[in-house]
Amino acid sequence: MKTQVAIIGAGPSGLLLGQLLHNAGIANIIIERQRPDYVLSRIRAGVLEQGMVDLLRKAGVSQRMDIEGLPHHGFELALKGRRVHIDLAGLTGGKAVMIYGQTEVTRDLMAARQEVGAQTVYEASDVQLHDMKGAQPYVTFIKDGETCRLDCDYIAGCDGYHGIARQSIPAGVLQTFERVYPFGWLGILADTPPVNEELVYATHERGFALCSMRSPTRTRYYVQVDAEDKVEDWSDDRFWNELKARLPADLAERLVTGPSIEKSIAPLRSFVVEPMQYGKLFLVGDAAHIVPPTGAKGLNLAASDVSTLFDILRKVYEHGRTDLLERYSAICLRRVWKAERFSWWMTSMLHRFPDADPFTQRMQQTELDYFVSSAAGRTTIAENYVGLPYEAVDPSND
Ligand code: APR
Ligand code: PHB
Repeated sequence: MKTQVAIIGAGPSGLLLGQLLHNAGIANIIIERQRPDYVLSRIRAGVLEQGMVDLLRKAGVSQRMDIEGLPHHGFELALKGRRVHIDLAGLTGGKAVMIYGQTEVTRDLMAARQEVGAQTVYEASDVQLHDMKGAQPYVTFIKDGETCRLDCDYIAGCDGYHGIARQSIPAGVLQTFERVYPFGWLGILADTPPVNEELVYATHERGFALCSMRSPTRTRYYVQVDAEDKVEDWSDDRFWNELKARLPADLAERLVTGPSIEKSIAPLRSFVVEPMQYGKLFLVGDAAHIVPPTGAKGLNLAASDVSTLFDILRKVYEHGRTDLLERYSAICLRRVWKAERFSWWMTSMLHRFPDADPFTQRMQQTELDYFVSSAAGRTTIAENYVGLPYEAVDPSND
């Protein structure tokens, strides 16, 4: 097999990159380890920044999002019972976010890919990357018991945190930055009406809680739990009681509970590798960086990486601008680190840290109090939440 860009992984990063490249006439094949229904069964985040919304429209996959997605012009912080509105639109000159689940984004991208007839190899095992530093890189994998070889010009490593792409880079090349937080998030999905029109991020002595949604009839709620907790420890009743205990009284009273249709615990981690590139291999999305979910930045960072790589590859194929290839990592990392900072800050401000001494606790409360009571502070939160701008790959010519 032969293509121009080999894409490893059919998550949102790989599928979105594939769609943009296909639309631009650049051939690509996606190699994915799982089956499509497995990929679609993963429940992930649901807040899209304006930049990602625009990118999905540019890729021609926004029809359903534009009908079913919920534009949100603000969100709430609940600080020990006090509710503070963050007016995203008012503080950022009219910007907003779109509530639309990652699972739905993935579903739309898969359907679009199938419609245009672009190739995805699902259930590929033992994926290996070769000659990434050479003139002609290639990928090998096993499909239906047979070893296959895919020759290409470039490889996009869109295979997530546990993928093979990052691990294929020789030891000593990458520098890793990491922070593991001493708690997890227990999330449930339920067919109940949202407790509030906007998302509510709540901080409480018992720990953090988040009220989110997928639609006017489907909710996604989270509570901070101990890192060692297991899903089996949390009956639906225990979950709803804990959520209520952490919300302001008026919201707790309004909360509609119901049976969970999904329940899972996710660890919280900050992780970045530098550089995001090795020869003709480019790391995209979760393969290169992880953020804790508090700022809703994971999926959105994947989208900005995709946008940068797509813009560069288009200029390479259309105008021979191979000089731009080496800019990929630096351009991505500037935005990645800012989103890492915001996600770390939101996480640090809103959670209960088991080891925090009284002074640290007061500092946490005071910093949050200062930010929400100052217009400058609220503006900082808002401009990060709606998403920082994408950087041009070739400012002199864009
Ligand atoms: N070979 C082929 N495919 C692989 C391999 C491998 N060795 N390892 C993993 N994959 C596939 C996974 O099965 C998955 O479908 O790569 C895909 C990676 O998808 P994601 O983990 O969703 O990563 P990404 O596409 O970068 O999405 C960005 O943002 O909100 C966050 O974590 C959230 O998934 C989200 C991410
Ligand atoms: C979600 O809806 O799953 C969600 C929303 C906001 C976050 C994290 C997750 O910050």
